[in-house]
Amino acid sequence: MPYEGIFITFEGIEGTGKSTQTDLLCEHLFKEGIGHVRTVEPGGTPIGDEIRQILLSVDNKAMSARTELLLYAASRAQHVDEVIVPALRSGKVVVCDRFTDSTVAYQGYGRGLDMELIHKLNDICTGGIKPDITFLLDTEVEAGLSRNRTANKVDRLELEAEEFHQKVRKGYIEISEKESDRVRVIDSGQEIEKVSEEIIKVLTEFMKGATGASE
Ligand code: TMP
Repeated sequence: MPYEGIFITFEGIEGTGKSTQTDLLCEHLFKEGIGHVRTVEPGGTPIGDEIRQILLSVDNKAMSARTELLLYAASRAQHVDEVIVPALRSGKVVVCDRFTDSTVAYQGYGRGLDMELIHKLNDICTGGIKPDITFLLDTEVEAGLSRNRTANKVDRLELEAEEFHQKVRKGYIEISEKESDRVRVIDSGQEIEKVSEEIIKVLTEFMKGATGASE
């Protein structure tokens, strides 16, 4: 499925400032007059938002790892069909807060579910589309978790032990090493403005070289 747009994703453990950086990047695109869509996973559609509530509710502590995996997958399938693919086809830049790497990092490295199954499911949900560029915001687990707790932002996954989040962080680093062309690691321990400047610089370079996104 060839398309004209550019698909950008943000990834990282809890409390790395992904949403803030997603917003700042979209502000930049707006100022530059670049048509874009800002979106998020899980969620991004009315159906996905309902799934997000189920996934993140602290009342759902009984959720099994497989149920969790399938709910993230269901939210993604809807999101790809309803929002991401139409936007890319119309030539827009899509800026998505979390995507398939989150499933590999959290359900694969974190929960220990079968990686082959996760990759297969990701392929089914996405129909094969991949981010053109991914910003992995990286910080120490402790710093990220305490940042979210200070902001009073606690959901079901954040209640997991620190060890779980360490596995997720390690997973992200491995993904970035395996796919170093696509995944750019950004130190999110720096000041917000510095992080944003770095992201914009990397993206500007990337867009100069991009002749249109591919499958
Ligand atoms: P957040 O986007 O507000 O950080 O919340 C989403 C939570 O869901 C976060 O803990 C990461 C988790 N998540 C997964 O475990 N797997 C996934 O595929 C996605 C998209 C998110």
